[in-house]
Amino acid sequence: MIDLNDYTLEEWNSLLKLASDIRLNQRAYINRCEGRIMATLFYEPSTRTQMSFQAAMLRLGGQIIGFDNPVNSSVSKGETLMDTIRIVSGYSDVIVMRHPLEGSVKAASLYSRCPIVNAGDGGHLHPTQTLTDIFTLYNIKQRLGGMNIGVCGDLKYGRTVHSLIKAMTRFPGNRFYLISTPELAVPDYIKQIITSSGADCIEASSIESCIGDLDVLYMTRIQRERFATPEAYEKQKGVFVLDREKLKKAKSDLAILHPLPRVDEIEFAVDSDSRALYFKQAEFGMFARMALILKIIEDDLLEKKDDDSMPGGVHCMNARCITQQETYLPQLAHIDASGRKCCLYCDEELPPKPGIRV
Ligand code: CP
Repeated sequence: MIDLNDYTLEEWNSLLKLASDIRLNQRAYINRCEGRIMATLFYEPSTRTQMSFQAAMLRLGGQIIGFDNPVNSSVSKGETLMDTIRIVSGYSDVIVMRHPLEGSVKAASLYSRCPIVNAGDGGHLHPTQTLTDIFTLYNIKQRLGGMNIGVCGDLKYGRTVHSLIKAMTRFPGNRFYLISTPELAVPDYIKQIITSSGADCIEASSIESCIGDLDVLYMTRIQRERFATPEAYEKQKGVFVLDREKLKKAKSDLAILHPLPRVDEIEFAVDSDSRALYFKQAEFGMFARMALILKIIEDDLLEKKDDDSMPGGVHCMNARCITQQETYLPQLAHIDASGRKCCLYCDEELPPKPGIRV
């Protein structure tokens, strides 16, 4: 499961219904993954994603193996991603992987003998966070369309935002308010997805300018670890802060979400506001992940997907793409919603072939 949008709305619906049932009837599910093993390979730090996946598998009666720091694995001796995945997929029934490079989980999937789940690939995607987010909205708002959704903060590197926008464009009537600085604006390919879906998109430079219109405000952390230099981060940090004063203009049923961790973008004083749902959202994530694990293991959810890849013909130029590090990877492409030939791994548009004028 690399991208939540690889699945149909019926499959999402079935996941959400299952997650709801698990939440209400946890005891009915305690043995469903008995004898199964999940490997969690975290090449990058995590609290919620890693532990909620592990708790999910343990609550389903399964067991877990893995690492949360590649330094303690043979990655530190120079083992390739390809070889690590070949080995671990022989030990486990499902792999959950997070990695700092974009497209890394797609790359790993080429060599895995068991289903593999994207737990965050660099600044690219974080589909199980999105499953968490839509499960939260499904419970709180009882709808997934017809909403004004503000996304605020680091929209360039914020993989949770990319996955969320991709998901919410699938529901009619959603309008997006993109609240960021020009330096942290969403990548072009995400804008293309909004445009192609026909959804309205409004760019805003402050929370105050649009908070009164919003049904959902999705705050994000400025991702210090993805900036090229500390100076570039210093210029962006602390620009967007949600406080009680700004909330005076907001709707009474605004849903304030945040994938967490937070740094300084939501003041602690907001936590006691009934509209602050981010801690509840993190708890919902465990039930959403229990449903996903069950669907993968019992229903072969991942076996059905068509492969739309084609030869890329050129190297991807994205410096944060996994192909820059794991150079044995085949050059592969796919055609995106607006007809552009993009890197299969990281979704960045591929450069024209050498010798072709543009
Ligand atoms: N939301 C999220 O991905 O949190 P972690 O980085 O703690 O897993």
